[in-house]
Amino acid sequence: GVSKAGNNRHVVITAGPTREPLDPVRYLSNHSSGKMGYALAAAALTAGARVSLISGPVELAAPKGATLIQVETAEQMHAAARELAPEADIFIGCAAVADYRLEAPAEHKMKKREDEETLTLTLVKNPDIIAAVAALPTSSRPTLVVGFAAETRDVERYARDKLMRKGLDMIVANDVSQAGLGFGSDVNAAWVLWRTPQGTHSDALPAQPKRQLAATIVHRALDLLVP
Ligand code: C5P
Repeated sequence: GVSKAGNNRHVVITAGPTREPLDPVRYLSNHSSGKMGYALAAAALTAGARVSLISGPVELAAPKGATLIQVETAEQMHAAARELAPEADIFIGCAAVADYRLEAPAEHKMKKREDEETLTLTLVKNPDIIAAVAALPTSSRPTLVVGFAAETRDVERYARDKLMRKGLDMIVANDVSQAGLGFGSDVNAAWVLWRTPQGTHSDALPAQPKRQLAATIVHRALDLLVP
């Protein structure tokens, strides 16, 4: 067959939102569509890689050829990521993981209290999945850990902070305050920042279909694998 940049590479991607239960019928979540993560999976497959897609609940079909691991909560996503990370060359965290979950989800459907006008829920922090993957010992750490950052201002500065703080090798940052881009949209613009022994580099990617942006990001990551 034809040799491609992604041949013999395993790319693990997290995508979509997580869902944190309040009780058996209710949950906390966000509006992540999963489009970017699924586009990355398709791009990695096209590049010849083996792809594992760890996905929260979305209304998308997994690209043909990807191994789909369906999860709901951040803790389930974390467990799947921990299991797959040691055999990944590239780990891409594209999921919109809920920062918090209910400390104690109710076992039965919560009843409306007629005598109370307010309801207080106690939330606890979820694990930072990508930071945990990036902090794995060298023997089980993916060669390249790529994160995403949605910002509303100072995009490059906040992305650089996140790159360092989470111990990532590359971060894709976008300005979610720009109408028509990002969340739920088919088009996105982004900054890519990456680290090499020489320092931090950045590149602006103009607004383009997510499918195209995904291909650019996957190829950038594959290029970084073989310096
Ligand atoms: O800190 P923030 O949520 O902005 O970071 C976004 C990046 O971190 C994304 O790559 C996202 O998938 C990842 N993340 C994660 N686990 C969390 C929160 C964010 O993997 N609990």
